[in-house]
Parts: sequence; C-alpha cells; structure tokens
Amino acid sequence: MRFLTLRDFDYRGRRVLVREDLNVPMKGSQVADETRLVAALPTLRKLQAAGARTIVCSHLGRPDGKRDERYSLRPVGARLAELLGSDVAFASDCVGPEAKAAVDRLSDGQVLLLENLRFHPEEEKNDSGFARELASLAERYVNDAFGSAHRAHASTEGVTHFLPSAAGLLMEAELEALSKLVDDPAHPYVCAIGGAKVADKIGVFTHLMDKVDAFCVGGGMGNTFLAARGVDVGKSLRDPDLEPAKKILALAEERRVAVHLPTDAIVAESLDDDAPFAEVVLVEPLENRMILDIGPATSGVYAEVIRKARTVVFNGPMGVYEKQAYQAGTREIGIALAEATHNGAVTVVGGGDAAAAAHELGFAGSVTHVSTGGGATLEFLEGKTLPGVAALEAAAASVS
Ligand code: 3PG
Ligand code: MG
Repeated sequence: MRFLTLRDFDYRGRRVLVREDLNVPMKGSQVADETRLVAALPTLRKLQAAGARTIVCSHLGRPDGKRDERYSLRPVGARLAELLGSDVAFASDCVGPEAKAAVDRLSDGQVLLLENLRFHPEEEKNDSGFARELASLAERYVNDAFGSAHRAHASTEGVTHFLPSAAGLLMEAELEALSKLVDDPAHPYVCAIGGAKVADKIGVFTHLMDKVDAFCVGGGMGNTFLAARGVDVGKSLRDPDLEPAKKILALAEERRVAVHLPTDAIVAESLDDDAPFAEVVLVEPLENRMILDIGPATSGVYAEVIRKARTVVFNGPMGVYEKQAYQAGTREIGIALAEATHNGAVTVVGGGDAAAAAHELGFAGSVTHVSTGGGATLEFLEGKTLPGVAALEAAAASVS
C-alpha cells in the first residue's frame, strides 16, 4: 500500500490522535448498533498495548456545527469502554483548554475520547486552523475511520498536514478487502445489488460494468429495471425516471454483462403487517399491489449464480428484509454468499443497508468481509478517490 500503517509507524509511548468512525445509530442515549465500535477495537488495543496515549476523535450524526447534547459522544464512550474492557476518559470539547487538560491527564496506555468534532463548523469546512489545533493535542495521527474516508474534513484530511500520519487496522482491512473487488478480481464476478433507487447507484453500475460478469438485481431498483424492460410493476416503489435504468441495460448488453432481474416476487397491497401477501410470477397484472421481495424462482437463480462465483459483492437487500414476510430473498442470497465463501470465493458485503441486513439475517460472520462504510463504500465502488485515503498517501509520499 502507498500509505504508512501501524507496522511501519513509531507510536510507542506517544500521544496519538486516532480518527475513528463512531457514528453509530443511537436510541436515546443507548448505542443501537455497536458494529462500528467493535470494528475500532483492534487499533485501540494495539495502541494501548504499545503504551501510547490514545486520543480518539469522531463525529456523531449531523449536529450542523453547533453543540447539541443529543449528538454527544459521551454515551458512545461509555459503551466503548465496556467493549474495550478498560476506562475511556472523556473530554467535553475536542479542542481548546478542556481537551488539552484531558490529554495532559493521560498516562501511557490510557484512552481518551473527545466530544463530537461536528460541534465545531470548522470540522466539515476542513478549516486549517482547526486541523492544526486538533493536531496540537498529539505527536502522531492515525486514521482508522474508513466510514468517513469520503469526507475531506479537518479530522480526516486537514490534520494530515500537521502530523506524521498512518492508517489504522480497520482502515487497512477495509481497503484490502474492497480492493479485491476492483483490482484484478477473480472471475466469475457477481454483483448482487438492491436498495431503493437506481439513481443512487448509477456510479456503482457504471464502474463495475467493466469488471463483473453479472448483476443480480432486487429491491426497489429491481422494480425500476423491470419497468424499464416494460414489465408491469403495479404500485411498486420505483424511480420515476426510467432513462438511467435503460442506459445501464443498454450498456450491459453492449459489454455482454448479464443483468438478472426478478421473474417472480412476493407482493402485497401495503406494508401493513396484516396486509395479505402473495407469490406471483411477473407476467400477471399487479394492479394495486407492490413488489416487496424477490420470489423463490428468482432467488434460486441468483443463489446459483452466486454459488459459482469467485468474487461477489453484495450491495443492498433484495426486499423489505426488516419485515419477516419479505426477508426470504435476502436470506437466500446470504446462504449462497456463505456457500461461495466456504468454497473459496472472496465475498464482500458493502453499503449501509446491505451490512445491516447481513447482521440482522445472521450471515455477516460467514462472508469474507462486511464493510463498516456506507457512503464511503459506495464511493469506493464508484471508483472515486476517497479524500481520507488520498491524504494518508500524500502524507506518506511527503516523508519518503
Ligand atoms: C456514515 O455513516 O456514512 C459516515 O459516518 C459519514 O457520515 P456523514 O454521511 O454524516 O458524513
Ligand atoms: Mg452517510
């Protein structure tokens, strides 16, 4: 890799500023999903073991540059301490005298969490004075926040101009796993893609078009592609504009990439729990009904395609997996992913909803890698440069 990692970085006994992505879903003051906290532990443990004084910083939500207690990281720090099995001190500001005093109280091997970076508008503006202030707390900088790598903010980009900088273990693992999807992937290569809108993922389709052998499409975007092919989708959720889907289908045909679309579906008139649902073949008129999951014939085909693959990226659920009646399609994909992994394929779950589905339906542990990134993973799959990663590369280039 073109950036420094914890292996080639001297952080022992130093004050190290670590950017993590602790932007976790909250329910009141409780962490509702601790995946990102667990993912941060290896780097924090490594720094602790080396006697570093670890200063963790992160954003939580979008408080818009103002202090807002609903977005305080304090309860996140409490949960992090439990998971880490050691104290995590807390500073109620990420810069200024309070942060400085909390850093001064740290001894070797101790961990401090700073309050939400986004309480300061300068963070998202990538203000250089703010970045310098953050940097002044430490002697080294580690960026472990893959989930925020698509943001050019003071804590992900600006700070690298002021401190020797390296990637943390999570950042490294994410980039290593995701790189297998774009740099010389093993074939057959399949992208199972779902989620609400085609419009959100045009970049993923166009970038992966030259790399994959097949797309298996479900979710709301499956409906849009079906409509683009002239299939009746009734009242199903779909993009109002069919042009992007038509263009993607035309491009796929030109490049000889298979685009598998649903041939059967689970449909209902509403998402209400008591609304009757039915399995239909997608030739009969749907009228007032909507497609809420792919059907068994479709998931059978998708599973077969995935089982034979050597590389698979799963990017978005096949249906409304949050409801039991509509989770079978995504579950079948999960089973096929686990089998493919068992047979030696590289299988990656990427994008917020896909990861949530993998955890919810219990196949997160049976794939090669589940990305902690939402927007960052999507931008990576679109072939975009991630500013947080580019900054680490630039920092490495400037010292070598
Ligand atoms: C995410 O959850 O996608 C990251 O933490 C970034 O958050 P943001 O979209 O508010 O910048
Ligand atoms: Mg986001």
